[in-house]
Amino acid sequence: MHKQKKEVVAGVSGIREVFNYIRRYRQKTFVLKIEDSLLDSTLFPLLMKDIIQLHDVGINIVIVPGIRHTIEQKLDQAGIRTRFVDGVRITPVSALPLVKLAAMEVAETIISQLGAGGANGIMGTWIRARSLGVSQGIDFEFTGRIEKIRSDIVVKLMEENFIPVLYNVGFNSTGKSYNVNSNEITCCLCRDLDVIKLFFIGQDEGIRVENLTFPGEIVPNANGIFSNLDLSQVDYILEHNTDQLTYHYREYLENALEVTRPQNGVNRVHIISGTREGSLLTEVFSSTGLGTMVYRNDYAYIRMATPEDVPEILLLMEDYVKQGNLVLRSESEINDRINDYYIYEVDRAIYGCGALYPQDNNQGEIGAIAVNPSYKCKGVGKKIMRYLIGLGQKRGMNRLFLLTTQTSDWFYGFGFYPGTPSSLPLGRKVRYNNERNSRVLLLDLVSRSQDTTPG
Ligand SMILES: CC(C)(COP(=O)(O)OP(=O)(O)OC[C@H]1O[C@@H](n2cnc3c(N)ncnc32)[C@H](O)[C@@H]1OP(=O)(O)O)[C@@H](O)C(=O)NCCC(=O)NCCS
Repeated sequence: MHKQKKEVVAGVSGIREVFNYIRRYRQKTFVLKIEDSLLDSTLFPLLMKDIIQLHDVGINIVIVPGIRHTIEQKLDQAGIRTRFVDGVRITPVSALPLVKLAAMEVAETIISQLGAGGANGIMGTWIRARSLGVSQGIDFEFTGRIEKIRSDIVVKLMEENFIPVLYNVGFNSTGKSYNVNSNEITCCLCRDLDVIKLFFIGQDEGIRVENLTFPGEIVPNANGIFSNLDLSQVDYILEHNTDQLTYHYREYLENALEVTRPQNGVNRVHIISGTREGSLLTEVFSSTGLGTMVYRNDYAYIRMATPEDVPEILLLMEDYVKQGNLVLRSESEINDRINDYYIYEVDRAIYGCGALYPQDNNQGEIGAIAVNPSYKCKGVGKKIMRYLIGLGQKRGMNRLFLLTTQTSDWFYGFGFYPGTPSSLPLGRKVRYNNERNSRVLLLDLVSRSQDTTPG
């Protein structure tokens, strides 16, 4: 192809990629933790402009400023020295007014920049905190821990098109103020709000591989940065680099692990530099960002069941059997086919289960789909289903089927279509329970794309 034409085609596909991302992220929430050391950078106004552009295309933005650098400056000027214990600053009463001043100054600078670009930032603490107290004989004085964030206020402000800026001061029920950690604010927001992306924007371009031990399958990018890390790789790096990881890197990675836990819902955490032009937009609008992205593998929590899981599987299914959603299976029936069962497990708690039973004629039956009522409607069922469909594809099955009494609408969402008992493979047809009269649903796998294949 002619060089100029090639460039135009590449440009067009880039534009299409951006539109796709905009569609995907509109009305979704990003939380941005921005280090205050960037405030003096000549590129800071450009970074703020990029944030406003994201907001302008309909992405909800919440900003949490890091304040450490400004606090240090103020304490130095006042000749006050403070001590850190495990990365946590002890805040004496003399330091508290300076902490507050630093927090407000930084938030105010951010809001002015937003205002200059035509966006409405609004600052507040909306944070209920209490004293960290005395731990192992050490009194943390006016350092606090977050009790709760008024996330309802944050949501309302975003609905009104504001960009909330939450700085690191919290109040207790009597109005006493505490210095709280901005990373803790970030994590709380990710727990409370429906956040899909969290950005740590600082001086680091990402996590550098230098001096670190990491799993062999990871290939760093040309700049010596980890481009993508899944959660098991993050675990590995944290575990094998106790002394090598800087405080910053450890904090980024530990927070990334925390917010991407299934109950928190953040899919991706990006660690990017605020001193490299365009790093935020590149990270959001292209598949090859410049920093480090930590991502959750949707299937990381699914594993094959073992005989030890059988009592819990039975317990999980018990009520659904009583309600008529599931057929009764005995302990020995499950045990005999335990390798066909898969469970979704987090921190040793079983959130859900499902099974794929191989059948004649290269077919597979999906069954025993159940989600613990406490974790319903959080996507657990969908992930189990997609996993089992992907497994069927991987095993070269050409058709999946299932029998259901009350859940057909849900299964249609995965592409299943209605069949009849006569569509079942012979061995299964003879065991069809006419009295139960379940609906038969079918899914042909041959023509399906690979996107459901478990990683
Ligand atoms: C059906 C079941 C597996 C869904 O799992 P889940 O983790 O709660 O569901 P997900 O979070 O993946 O999906 C939620 C969506 O499914 C919908 N949904 C849940 N149960 C449904 C049902 N019986 N029929 C139709 N839609 C249903 C929810 O309304 C929600 O819709 P939305 O995304 O538009 O808000 C779960 O509710 C369950 O265990 N049910 C009882 C057991 C059962 O019926 N198993 C199937 C036997 S054949």
